[in-house]
Amino acid sequence: MSPVYSVAVLVGSLRKESLNRKVARALAELAPPSLKLSIVEIGGLALYNEDIDGTPPAAYTAFREQIRNSDALLFVTPEYNRSVPGVLKNAIDVGSRPYGQSAWSGKPGAVISVSPGAVGGFGANHHLRQSLVFLDVPCMQQPEAYLGGAGSLFDEHGKLSEKTRPFLQGFIDSYARWVALHQR
Ligand code: FNR
Repeated sequence: MSPVYSVAVLVGSLRKESLNRKVARALAELAPPSLKLSIVEIGGLALYNEDIDGTPPAAYTAFREQIRNSDALLFVTPEYNRSVPGVLKNAIDVGSRPYGQSAWSGKPGAVISVSPGAVGGFGANHHLRQSLVFLDVPCMQQPEAYLGGAGSLFDEHGKLSEKTRPFLQGFIDSYARWVALHQR
């Protein structure tokens, strides 16, 4: 039987009607059978503070376990002020500690940024990649994915635009190959 890789999906927006969350769900539907995508919630993680991590909050421990138990990582994020939203950076920081026990190390990843603006979250996408280099997450280089004009990606029923579907299909298919290549 062919392997199925579990993918932890981190969405950088907590908004109920988040475009990024809709894109994450669309990717889960388009994913080939070799990938099982699950969104890992990050909104309940207290702002990282080494003082409280001496006795880690249950939410920190559960989050770290979810990341450790996954085979791969997919980041779907908006751009806030040309960078990574604080909630996502916080999750990255929580997963990176305690020192020497980072949950992220070696897990293949990819980044897609989604914005109603024209630039498609390029700044957030690349700031995020900077952290992923340090965290030893081999991050898919191509295809790059900066989804601009995202306000018109979904119709009123939440259906993905036919114009964008082939791009997302190509992205997730390439990512599936990337994940398979990087299993240890
Ligand atoms: C934004 N937005 C935004 N968009 C962008 O393309 N570049 C940016 O630098 C910013 N900065 C920014 C800061 C803050 C604090 C907010 C709340 C928003 C707009 C952002 O792309 C838009 O709200 C998206 O819809 C957010 O993604 P979700 O929540 O729809 O997934």
